[in-house]
Amino acid sequence: MMREGTATLIRREDYAAPAFWIRTVDLSFDLDPAKTLVTSKMQVERNTAVAHGPLVLHGEELNLLRVLINGESVSFRQDGHLLIIEGAPDADFALEIRNTCAPEKNTALSGLYTSGGGFFTQCEAEGFRRITYFLDRPDVMAVYTVTLRADKKKYPVLLSNGNLLETGELDNGRHFAKWHDPFPKPSYLFALVAADLVAREQRVKSRSGKDHLLQVYVRRGDLEKTEHAMNSLIASLVWDEARFGLPLDLERFMVVGVSDFNMGAMENKGLNIFNTSALLASPATATDADFSRIESIVAHEYFHNWTGNRVTCRDWFQLSLKEGLTVFRDQEFSMDMAGTPSARAVCRIQDVRSLRAMQFPEDGGAMAHPVRPDQYVEINNFYTATVYEKGSEVVRMYQTLVGRAGFEAGMKLYFERHDGQAVTCDDFAAAIADANPGSALASRLDAFKRWYSQPGTPRVQARGHYDAATQTYTLTLSQSNKGQAPQVIPVVTGLVGHDGTALAEQLLVLDAAEQSFTFENIAAEPVPSLLRGFSAPVLLDDGLSDAELLVLLKHDADAFNRWEASQRLALNRILAAVRAGQPLVLDAAYVEAMRSVLRHPELDAAFKELALTLPGEAYIAEQLEVVDPQAIHAAVEAAQIQLAQALREDWIAAFEANQIQGGYTPDPVSAGRRALANLALSMLVLDAQRSGDTVWPGRAYQRFKDATNMTDRLGALAALVNAHAELAESALSRFHAQFKGEPLVIDKWFALQARAPEREGKSFARVKQLAMHADFSLKNPNRARSLIFSLALFNPAAFHRADAAGYVFWADQVLALDGINPQVAGRLARAMDRWTTLAEPYRSAAREAIARVAAKAELSNDVREIIERQLA
Ligand code: PHE
Ligand code: ZN
Repeated sequence: MMREGTATLIRREDYAAPAFWIRTVDLSFDLDPAKTLVTSKMQVERNTAVAHGPLVLHGEELNLLRVLINGESVSFRQDGHLLIIEGAPDADFALEIRNTCAPEKNTALSGLYTSGGGFFTQCEAEGFRRITYFLDRPDVMAVYTVTLRADKKKYPVLLSNGNLLETGELDNGRHFAKWHDPFPKPSYLFALVAADLVAREQRVKSRSGKDHLLQVYVRRGDLEKTEHAMNSLIASLVWDEARFGLPLDLERFMVVGVSDFNMGAMENKGLNIFNTSALLASPATATDADFSRIESIVAHEYFHNWTGNRVTCRDWFQLSLKEGLTVFRDQEFSMDMAGTPSARAVCRIQDVRSLRAMQFPEDGGAMAHPVRPDQYVEINNFYTATVYEKGSEVVRMYQTLVGRAGFEAGMKLYFERHDGQAVTCDDFAAAIADANPGSALASRLDAFKRWYSQPGTPRVQARGHYDAATQTYTLTLSQSNKGQAPQVIPVVTGLVGHDGTALAEQLLVLDAAEQSFTFENIAAEPVPSLLRGFSAPVLLDDGLSDAELLVLLKHDADAFNRWEASQRLALNRILAAVRAGQPLVLDAAYVEAMRSVLRHPELDAAFKELALTLPGEAYIAEQLEVVDPQAIHAAVEAAQIQLAQALREDWIAAFEANQIQGGYTPDPVSAGRRALANLALSMLVLDAQRSGDTVWPGRAYQRFKDATNMTDRLGALAALVNAHAELAESALSRFHAQFKGEPLVIDKWFALQARAPEREGKSFARVKQLAMHADFSLKNPNRARSLIFSLALFNPAAFHRADAAGYVFWADQVLALDGINPQVAGRLARAMDRWTTLAEPYRSAAREAIARVAAKAELSNDVREIIERQLA
């Protein structure tokens, strides 16, 4: 893709306040897909804290028509993406700019674009400058008044932020709507929508007695798929008032779905815009996982109204200020919604599993960066698992260190100090610490803040020593992170007797390279249960033996560590086989431990499913110095086949015991039972491939056909496809025919095939074939992700091929996507982040493919930055 601007490195230490403030903006849009006219009237004032200087505005891919200051034309120059006005007055002035842009040509989906015949915007991080010239930076906050004009028939719904002031008719079948948002906001929170949509509406009363109108806007046929999102929104509202005392500050809160969207959703003030994949759900088309993801994304965007909008970021280096905090809030919300302690633990396990699968590899690879990055070329490349998920873990550690009540007090102080401001991660840290003087945090604040500045996953080693004579147990903890300074690591530690007695639980704060902690009055040698609830985002080497892990698996009061023991037992075996270059053979002790989990009379189905699911291939790879993706896959597959065979009777029992009668509800208990039934079914179909049995593939096919919800239907289909069963083909074509009118379900159809465990190159061959399918398109991000990303980022054994064909395919797709949508292309480019750890012949072939992308002259900044970091 042709780029006018040259790549410049932006540094955090170079932050300077803007030379001007924009206090109010009056925007008007004459909407037309080919050429939209934008008129922007701004009240501008010089920032007296900054000496004289020109007014420099950002603008990209715009056609400038005129610039007026106080109604008079003024001289200006354009330099790349900048509009420079040297003669801007010192006194406050009115600035008027007129320009056009071309929404229908905007395939990057940043700025103003068209999708499904409507207009939508996406302005975070720097999309507003693709709509009009502006000081497009988050510390410039203005009050917006917006007038939209468009054809009434094609675009009956006209929305923008805030309150609706006026609507009316115009000539030529056009109409208008005028909106006003009373809250000053940065340009990245601006939004407009003009489309043919319908809304589900709900009026609610908040705790404080205020009335609010909630609306969820979607295309006509999708209205029945919005009930879950509406319920999630109402629950979010109630939760934020109850837990943090944060009410909704607007009379009207709107949510809009759009099919073409680069991310999950966007928190524009009062007008959240959602990828339909993060909004629409019905039992027939969405899985349990979709229902829970929608609940958490609706909550996430709603929570941003305070953490992000009322208090925003001073600059983009502070992104985790809003994202880490808001992910933490949505994770807490999901846990509170789940209810029971064990359902909460399941939430936590799922969050940690995805942290380890996505963020740990990132922190060890080419794109490793601190939670608060120090530099970037393209900010879009820093909407990462580190900023979001590790950022959330950092916020969780504040809460662990100051306690729940202390954290709530800290949040209160944060809003008292900073409501209406654009601030930094330091401001947040200071508020939490100042509200908790004398806490374990306040006394170590500077050291704690290394979590913001030091990249990498710290490694913690723990060794225990029991002294029978003094009845003391001494735990020695040490940490390292590539030679960087010690971090403050809260290690929630329990001691468990070999018979299962809970002996102690304590918060140990490791803040030096090495420290010892002594527990008194311990009558017999205990098993340490460290890092309970995953109290810090570290890699732990606790040196526990199989026998000790089995004690924890059986008895640990902390459900997270119970699950962790199951994973460690599996991981140890997989790693041993991979390291030895030997086929994996499961031992009876492990198999019997898994059997007792599966048969356990009290454990939840959801927990059983998580414990019996083997560690992900990406997380396994993180434990190895040299990575052979095929060897890892072979070991995991062998473990699966042996578990399928050895536990066959137990799988049958689990499958039978977890059939749900009656209607579908996505509650955690039912979802857990469906998950376990689906795992059991996939194990039974897998074992049938080995034994030649035809009963279970037949039952899976029957269940696939008869299912009354998508979770069961897709689970049965996955069982067939993942086992490469013969019936998979006919099930796949039936599924496609049945859901051809449901794009989000067709995405699942693509993704399932692209993620199928590799067997003799079949999965890769299928992806290449599907890339030519009539339903495939790189232009729709969801579709591109469903096929291409599924292969390159989530199916290592299909992607990393000895013949390099996976890498050739990747390079072709990155280059093709870059011409359409650089942000999405940049994300696909990241599939090669960890190439330097690959074994030969993968490593050399990977380098060649990366070099081929690098050699292309016209690359976006997005892809260029990723590729250059990979080659650095
Ligand atoms: N700020 C959005 C969120 O976290 C994510 C997003 C970023 C969406 C950039 C679009 C573009 O909810
Ligand atoms: Zn967010």
